Amino acid sequence: MLLTQIDHVAIAVPDLEAAIAWYADTFGATVTHREVVERDGVEEALIKVGESYIQLTTGTRPDSPITKFLEKRGPGIHHVAYRVDDCAAALDAVKAQGWQVIDDVPRPGSRGTTVAFVHPKTALGTLIELVQE
Ligand code: CO
Repeated sequence: MLLTQIDHVAIAVPDLEAAIAWYADTFGATVTHREVVERDGVEEALIKVGESYIQLTTGTRPDSPITKFLEKRGPGIHHVAYRVDDCAAALDAVKAQGWQVIDDVPRPGSRGTTVAFVHPKTALGTLIELVQE
């Protein structure tokens, strides 16, 4: 089994502050990490739940994939991230099955992680992120 944990569930939101307040007011949740990822045009806030995170994420510019997602589908679950010991090995396993990937090789993610995205088209309709800490 190449997946060791659910790393995070990413939820696309139009207003990050309002989303953080919603989780705080409803569940008493606090943000443990916040980061702007300029390359991807996203800003994210992580709320720790056990050993996993809820990742509230919003677009920082019009061409951001999150901005486009929100325009097309509205707020909601954007991707599921699985933690792996070796991102390159997990990505190779996906490619060995002939499944479509977004990142051909692992790349830097937030929190100093190494990540790769698998295309939802050949992954049961789920955008999957492989995360190596
Ligand atoms: Co993610």
